[in-house]
Amino acid sequence: MIDVAFLGAHVRPAATAVVIDVLRATSTITLALASGYDRVIVAGGIDEACELRAEGRVLAGERDCERPPGFDLGNSPEDTLAPRGPELVIATTNGAPAIIGAVAACDEVFLACLLNLEATIAALRERSGDILVVAAGTNGAISLEDVYLAGRISAALEGKRTDAARIAEAVAAAYPDPIDALDASAGAIQLHKVGLSADVTFCAQESITTVVPRVVRTAGDAAVVEPSAVQAVLPAADPAGIGVPGQNT
Ligand code: MLT
Repeated sequence: MIDVAFLGAHVRPAATAVVIDVLRATSTITLALASGYDRVIVAGGIDEACELRAEGRVLAGERDCERPPGFDLGNSPEDTLAPRGPELVIATTNGAPAIIGAVAACDEVFLACLLNLEATIAALRERSGDILVVAAGTNGAISLEDVYLAGRISAALEGKRTDAARIAEAVAAAYPDPIDALDASAGAIQLHKVGLSADVTFCAQESITTVVPRVVRTAGDAAVVEPSAVQAVLPAADPAGIGVPGQNT
């Protein structure tokens, strides 16, 4: 069965979960791994991330979309393009808790965004059992861009689906171009307001990397994420697996 949870808080047990926070947590984590970070440690909060600071670890994240005091990076995907160490520790408002919640309930957890859409679908097609697509949402509210991507993923998978999955597919079908779904969202409006419009454009790129982040273990309350071994579904554009934006969809 393919199902969609419209909020991170609605996660339920499933064999496979795929967590989505297009703007911007899962986009940033995906790009960090594609850029060469060995792993990303998803922290439960700002304080927890600070406690994880250690040699070789780079702190990234946001509160109200802005870089928290003392952090090395914000939550802009492009901030991770040049790795500053082997491990990225990330704390975000909605995406990080959704990931940690999915780990507690589901057997296997992947992270998806538009940047790795084709590779995510390929990974999910290799799985048997229930698939729960988790749209993280924003501050307890359903978010358009996450439901849009949930619908794109659901529509690409074979099998029975719930009404929630059908609703997400209908939302996806309403936006032929991903940028229109992102731009119409409250999350994008907020990013535009704080001068981070470039992040919206960046996150709207489709299938520019074959990296699919997968939670490999927990460490206390944190979830440790590494690239999963998915068959390459795109021509390798460079060793990091990052394609040329706009040229390989
Ligand atoms: C979140 O996890 O709440 C988001 O990624 C917020 C953002 O940085 O845009």
